[in-house]
Amino acid sequence: MSPQSGPPRRSRPGKPYRRPKKDPVRILAFEALRAVDERDAYANLVLPPLLRKAREDGGFDARDAALATELVYGTLRHQGTYDAIIAECVDRPLREVDPPVLDVLTLGAHQLLGTRIPTHAAVSASVELARVVLGDGRAKFVNAVLRKIAAADLDAWLERVAPPYDEDPEDHLGVVHAHPRWIVSALWDALGGGRAGIEDLLEADNERPEVTLVARPGRSDPGELVAAAGEESALPGRWSPYAVRLTEGGEPGALDAVREGRAGVQDEGSQLVALALANAPLDGPDRRWLDGCAGPGGKAALLGALAAERGAALLAAEKQPHRARLVERALAGNPGPYQVIAADGTRPPWRPESFDRVLVDVPCTGLGALRRRPEARWRRRPEDLAGFAPLQRGLLREALTASRVGGVVGYATCSPHPAETRAVVEDVLGEARKGQGVTAEWIDARPLMPDVPALGEGPDVQLWPHLHGTDAMYLALLRRTG
Ligand SMILES: C[S@@+](CC[C@H](N)C(=O)[O-])C[C@H]1O[C@@H](n2cnc3c(N)ncnc32)[C@H](O)[C@@H]1O
Repeated sequence: MSPQSGPPRRSRPGKPYRRPKKDPVRILAFEALRAVDERDAYANLVLPPLLRKAREDGGFDARDAALATELVYGTLRHQGTYDAIIAECVDRPLREVDPPVLDVLTLGAHQLLGTRIPTHAAVSASVELARVVLGDGRAKFVNAVLRKIAAADLDAWLERVAPPYDEDPEDHLGVVHAHPRWIVSALWDALGGGRAGIEDLLEADNERPEVTLVARPGRSDPGELVAAAGEESALPGRWSPYAVRLTEGGEPGALDAVREGRAGVQDEGSQLVALALANAPLDGPDRRWLDGCAGPGGKAALLGALAAERGAALLAAEKQPHRARLVERALAGNPGPYQVIAADGTRPPWRPESFDRVLVDVPCTGLGALRRRPEARWRRRPEDLAGFAPLQRGLLREALTASRVGGVVGYATCSPHPAETRAVVEDVLGEARKGQGVTAEWIDARPLMPDVPALGEGPDVQLWPHLHGTDAMYLALLRRTG
């Protein structure tokens, strides 16, 4: 009997169409990822307004906000690792997968491999998200890829996609700890030592930093901040006498002292840098201080308060006018004299030899603050180093020129990359030795960070997230000699 001649087949009733479930947390996380991907936006700038709007629209509580934040930050941080895993599960190069589809897949991979969300919930939430934002056809593709990913746990995947450590240590660490290979290599060069140290550092980059406050001296004190935040969720800083750590996160803006500018949010590494500059020994007058790269004003506000206690005045200069306005805001209410100007520190309007203490916290790759900017590691390129190099040297040269003979200059970066730290200082000191600039000598910065361990061999100081719980701030202190 031919198939046609049999009894008429009953057509199977099609599955009734079901509208996709709209999950506001996943939709918001997806929108944030798209903005980061499409517009090169920064997650820490994109997320707060999206969360605010979701709260205003209703039905979005603090737990939803926490989950959305974790999904966005976690997905972005581990993007390189998830890309390597997704690449194993699709039959074409990742660059040929539509970016919005890839965003849904990475978000799904993070839920499957980087959170405690149960597998079935992670897959179904991602497929529903795909139905909402991509349509039913592409949702099937998302479903198929995520089911392949769900077949193994993270360790098993890493075993498969990362080259063995012994064959290629940097590539191995890069895939396992989600850092581009060139950054692993640069951080390892700067840190030195064996596998354990670099692994701890890379892991620390993947953790969300505690929120740290600074009680600006003379305006607030750590006791006030601890009492206001609640003793159960606030601890004194580890190193800075002005620091308070909010162990539960919390909302710093809800504290009176922060709202009134008497305290601020500031990493302890930045506090240590400002304090070391302020406390470096100085012969002669100590009346005029300069912050030559002040925006957005965190260090300027601490320096301003310290200067005020000593009867010194602070000039805070920042090239970008809109960032100079942020410095104005940070310094408002400073108890001592200060001035904020928009000025280019490489062509300064101030006269040479007019300051007793000078800080230049120069623009840099930010490789020391990767834990704060989850997408930064994937955006930075090795070429960026060369882009910053002339500016960093120019700013340090002018900082030395601005200092009086005998004055102190601090050169700081939030990058530990040797090309942005020691090499810049050595180059500028070398020019002076050849008679091409003002002369200066090193000041040992380590005793100016008392009780802080593992500061290196000096005379400069390198802080590390895994050793100090701070950003990887670098500080060189110099004294102008001629
Ligand atoms: C690393 S940030 C400084 C952070 C600041 N010290 C703080 O603690 O808030 C470097 C700043 O230098 C500014 N900048 C860049 N080029 C400059 C220049 N030629 N002169 C002065 N400021 C400059 C940038 O706009 C940026 O705000």
